[in-house]
Amino acid sequence: MADVSSRAEPQHEPGGTSPAPGAGARPAAPPDSPSDRQAGASSEPAAHVDALGLLDVVGRPLPVFPDPAPLASHGPGRIIAMCNQKGGVGKTTTTINLGAALAECGRRVLLVDFDPQGAASVGLGVNPHELDRTVYNLLMERGADVHEVIVSTDVENLDVLPANIDLSAAEVQLVGEVARESVLARVLRPVVDEYDVILVDCQPSLGLLTVNALTAAHGVLIPLECEFFALRGVALLVETIEKVRDRLNPRLDVDGILATMFDSRTLHSREVVARVHEAFGDKLLQTVIGRTVKFPDASVAAEPITVYAPNHPGAQAYRQLARELVARGDAA
Ligand SMILES: Nc1ncnc2c1ncn2[C@@H]1O[C@H](COP(=O)(O)OP(=O)(O)O)[C@@H](O)[C@H]1O
Ligand SMILES: [Mg+2]
Repeated sequence: MADVSSRAEPQHEPGGTSPAPGAGARPAAPPDSPSDRQAGASSEPAAHVDALGLLDVVGRPLPVFPDPAPLASHGPGRIIAMCNQKGGVGKTTTTINLGAALAECGRRVLLVDFDPQGAASVGLGVNPHELDRTVYNLLMERGADVHEVIVSTDVENLDVLPANIDLSAAEVQLVGEVARESVLARVLRPVVDEYDVILVDCQPSLGLLTVNALTAAHGVLIPLECEFFALRGVALLVETIEKVRDRLNPRLDVDGILATMFDSRTLHSREVVARVHEAFGDKLLQTVIGRTVKFPDASVAAEPITVYAPNHPGAQAYRQLARELVARGDAA
């Protein structure tokens, strides 16, 4: 459960003059990693504070998102696809760390690794190459039991449905199937009631596996790296989401666009986020994930950052994302 200091932690502190409670509780960044500072920690204090409090990186008032209330019972789960056909934008990092942050709040969370690279599995300490059965078998073999393939992780409340390179064959093998776009939805049906949130880590493509994730999902989260070409390809992604909504899954919503790898020292990062806001308005989530080597470090340790470096601003950022999504009604 997020503590009080993390709850009050803004994504961007106005140069140490912050009136925000809890700002003093942030641990000092290591001297060799100025990039560990979170969004907004640049020299523009006037842009960050108004009479009511803090503003987000595009100047919207930033509320303190409340700690999610404990749940009396679990399920049915809301399925969220983490989607961007560009690689290296933070899909897997967000799946793991958002999942861990929601699990910390007592949510029962299932991560579905839906990328043949298996990075979400590996990032949680599950070696998918040693497994006989993965999500691939569930897609291809009717009658396979999803409960027998789900693996629990070292993080309480967090389970993973692993994938490995076998999954790369599914794209081709599913083409001839009846209802080939809704195979993942069928696979997840028996466990939807057991989880509060199911996060699907998609591979970097808009192929049949991703269409399966979108068909199974209630919502889509789009991580966007804060760099110049970030918006390239997003129009095609949105078009794909709209097609899936029209033809296969009318309930599908874009839950939000998450700016990742934000570097508060560069004007460039701010400009990218401003462009995203112009294009997508309030679909741009207020939480912004800063760029920090702690994320790759945590992957090497095969732990979510909330476990690897629980007080790091990167961990606080994913806790804030969890609270923001709950506050928006996108997660239980
Ligand atoms: N906020 C961040 N700051 C720095 N590095 C990050 C951040 N988010 C992700 N990374 C690193 O960038 C690489 C790609 O991220 P990943 O989550 O695997 O992207 P995707 O799943 O979209 O391909 C990984 O090495 C990851 O550790
Ligand atoms: Mg990935």
